[in-house]
Amino acid sequence: MIEFDPQHRIWLLSTPATAYALRLDEDGTPRHVHWGRPLTLAQAAAVPRFRNPADSSFEHPRADETELPVTGFGPSALQVRFPGGAREIEWRSDGHVVDGGHLTILLHDRHYPLAAELHYRVHEDSDVLERWTVLRHTGTGAPLELSRADSASWSVPRLRDYRLSQVTGAWSSEFRLRREPVPGGEIVLTSRRGISGHHVNPWVMIDDGGAGEEHGEVWSTALAWSGSWRVTLHRSPAERLCWTGGFGHEGVAWRLEPGESLETPVFAGLYCAGGFGGTSRAWHAHIARHVLPAGSELRPVVYNSWEATGWAVTEQGQKRLAALAAEAGAELFVMDDGWFGARDSDGAGLGDWVPNPGKFPAGLNPLIAEVHRLGMRFGIWVEPEMVNPDSDLYRAHPDWVLHQPDRRRTLLRNQLVLDFGRPEVTAWAHDWLDRLVSEHEIDFLKWDMNRAFTEAGRPGSGDPDRVWTDHVRGVYEVMDRLRADHPRLRIEACAGGGGRVDLGVLRRTDEAWTSDNTDAVDRIAIQHGYGQIYPARTMAAWVTDSPNFLTGRDLPLRFRFHVAMAGVLGLGGDLLSWSADERKEAAELVALYKEIRPVVQHGVQYRLGEPPLSGVQYVADDRVVVLAWRLPAPFGVSPLPLRLRALEPDARYRDDDTGTVHHGAVLLAHGLPLELPGTGYASALVRLTRLP
Ligand code: GLA
Repeated sequence: MIEFDPQHRIWLLSTPATAYALRLDEDGTPRHVHWGRPLTLAQAAAVPRFRNPADSSFEHPRADETELPVTGFGPSALQVRFPGGAREIEWRSDGHVVDGGHLTILLHDRHYPLAAELHYRVHEDSDVLERWTVLRHTGTGAPLELSRADSASWSVPRLRDYRLSQVTGAWSSEFRLRREPVPGGEIVLTSRRGISGHHVNPWVMIDDGGAGEEHGEVWSTALAWSGSWRVTLHRSPAERLCWTGGFGHEGVAWRLEPGESLETPVFAGLYCAGGFGGTSRAWHAHIARHVLPAGSELRPVVYNSWEATGWAVTEQGQKRLAALAAEAGAELFVMDDGWFGARDSDGAGLGDWVPNPGKFPAGLNPLIAEVHRLGMRFGIWVEPEMVNPDSDLYRAHPDWVLHQPDRRRTLLRNQLVLDFGRPEVTAWAHDWLDRLVSEHEIDFLKWDMNRAFTEAGRPGSGDPDRVWTDHVRGVYEVMDRLRADHPRLRIEACAGGGGRVDLGVLRRTDEAWTSDNTDAVDRIAIQHGYGQIYPARTMAAWVTDSPNFLTGRDLPLRFRFHVAMAGVLGLGGDLLSWSADERKEAAELVALYKEIRPVVQHGVQYRLGEPPLSGVQYVADDRVVVLAWRLPAPFGVSPLPLRLRALEPDARYRDDDTGTVHHGAVLLAHGLPLELPGTGYASALVRLTRLP
């Protein structure tokens, strides 16, 4: 998978369908050579070197297409201030190390005490290349100041144009897919919020403007980091596109003491010749195999009480909901916010993680025992990184929150952020979480995070900006310890819905709460964006009440189910207000979901059509599942049929419900015939089996 040509000083990393090559220049700079279709080592050595076409003195002679730009006029991946004022870096090689699919290029500065390791890792069953960087202060004396320390920089071949795909949004409207041309100059995608963010998710896809769902070359990268981050794309005057990215946003600096190292998060890249759909499928498979801790496990059907009760949870109320949830087929009952401390609203209690004695007079165990008796697992909502000023914790430790000297502490949702970069804070958090999980039979945590950082600082600390990265590492550490000590514990990532979904958090969680917006029509777009990178087995989707609490939209129960069934189905409504008929229909649909679950959660996903008629198809072995959603359309307008994908043209497929037999070739060419009566909201679930 990794070859080296010592004559040309070129490394070639090969994955099943792609190749990546870099070389070490005469001056010691690691330079990009190739990222795309497979090449041999000899072919990689023949890739023409980039030359500034105008040969102008206004371009830097050594700057273009380096693996980690440190010099020149484009965005730099690494910015250092050495004692004495030097800012440029002049690399010298210390050789390289290959260990299986892992290549490490070793570099040091010619004069100053800085060493770097550029890491590249490939897998036999994935086209994703993982890259990260380690920087080390190798001297004694003064610290080094780093104002940028990116994980990796990426370059694509010269294309006729460059188009950026990304997802942007806000709370309750996250993951909105956008595609637009990259203008000349630089574009910065970033989060300054301390979390990866609702506003733009840390991945990009680049194509030449002509790729489609199932065709065309797409280059994509995704950052495995759950805090602030920055990716800068640079379309140069020579019409090349490079981008560089990593943790931290502008203005954040790290101080590297003698002997100290800084390891960046992974910034993973994927080249795919199979369009946006092929790109998504490759990321889904990679995340399932190489990112998620329990990727091959089927996710349970959850019931979550949040939309039903808000903060008004009580033992009796939860038991009543649990009985109905179990009847509907839920396998995991999750009690949301409101169970602890003085938590009757978002105004108090965060930090005081003991069951509220008024609501749970005998503690949590009676409820948990009842949930288990009903045959469900038990999960609970926590928000460990937060504190309300109106809490015993804050009264005891007002200095534990992120804050700056002589500055106000801005409240958002009446809460402040605990500094998870402080060992005493992570020790406290680990201690109560560990006790909570050990002393009760708790199988699942919904780990929430409900506000962005403000006044991020730690007075008295010599390196105050470290809070941005230390906090994330502290969260990771607590999650990792809990998982290691409680192997059956499963965790849902949540930050006011989908505010912290990334390859970093998915390495230690099992699913993500996609959005607080549970309106099925809005969810079609949100789920479409989520699934560009993240797999269905991580996409939590609840069916809730109608009209929807947020949008006021009234939707048929089946429609709500058919949208939520495209991911990890859950129930989130007030089942006590549902009629017996609705609960019966819900139970039937939950049972149906369990039947299609292996295909949805573990199959290969194809996105079909576009609104007003869109859907998603999953294929696993000889089974095909299609979920289709029709939005209201004027009478007489007939939406394009949903042409299925990835079928065998010569095979025949039987509809499991009607018994109708379809020819693969006809489904591929003319689409799936659907019964969608009327002109309003309508949906369908079709299960097909390939006949032998
Ligand atoms: C966030 C979550 C919700 C719910 C509330 C509880 O908004 O996204 O699902 O847990 O917090 O306060």
